[in-house]
Amino acid sequence: MEIFVVPDAAGTGAVAAGILAAVIRSKPDAVLGVATGSSPIPVYEALAEHRLDLSRVRAFALDEYVGLPAGHPQSYAEVVRREVTERLGLDPALVSVPAGGADDPHRAADLYDAAIRAGGGVDVQILGIGHNGHIAFNEPGSELDSRTRVEVLAERTRQANARYFRSVGDVPTKCITQGLGTILEARQLLMVVNGADKAEVLAAALNGPVSPGCPGSVLQLHPHVTVVADEAAAMQLDGREGQVAVRVAAPCA
Ligand code: PGA
Repeated sequence: MEIFVVPDAAGTGAVAAGILAAVIRSKPDAVLGVATGSSPIPVYEALAEHRLDLSRVRAFALDEYVGLPAGHPQSYAEVVRREVTERLGLDPALVSVPAGGADDPHRAADLYDAAIRAGGGVDVQILGIGHNGHIAFNEPGSELDSRTRVEVLAERTRQANARYFRSVGDVPTKCITQGLGTILEARQLLMVVNGADKAEVLAAALNGPVSPGCPGSVLQLHPHVTVVADEAAAMQLDGREGQVAVRVAAPCA
């Protein structure tokens, strides 16, 4: 595991975008796993600055709410369209988001899992981490080998995401999420974490036991993980054998 610690959120974006840009330069039709939430936004902003031709890049989103009407501005289909597809100039036909509006979301989840495999798998999966340790919408208790499925959102997650809605009551209660086993099949995991409020959970995920109680701890099971954290989020990490903590004073492009 490689851990980069940078001064601030803009720095995390610059370092993570540099990693993505290198992958795309060597594989112009790379498959990116894209995450929503606030942490990856600086990554997409910084990647756009690289001005690469991303027209052949393919992308799979991690998750989607179940039950929002099509076109709802907070559906991840819309968030990904705005923040990723349009910002980076991806071909919308090559960007997939789970079908949270499907009549049968369970079947939609199965089809999504199969589509990722049929697409050759994800080259680099961008991840954030929730305060309760979730990655994608794999809440605590998720099986370590879980597949893409319909899940119930934890109350803490709905509270955290209420900032994007009028009230917490408007946040959907269910989602389709890639499973932990699905995520672990990506060839590289790239986690981006900002802020002192994530310090405790990041330390639990990287230094604590691997357990469904902290879904982010599955990173410890993957052979190619890069974590990019700002100093506040990295505050409680301890150096451990096998981990390389690299302090980057100035963001590298
Ligand atoms: P955030 O969300 O980046 O908005 O903090 C992370 C997550 O819940 O996975």
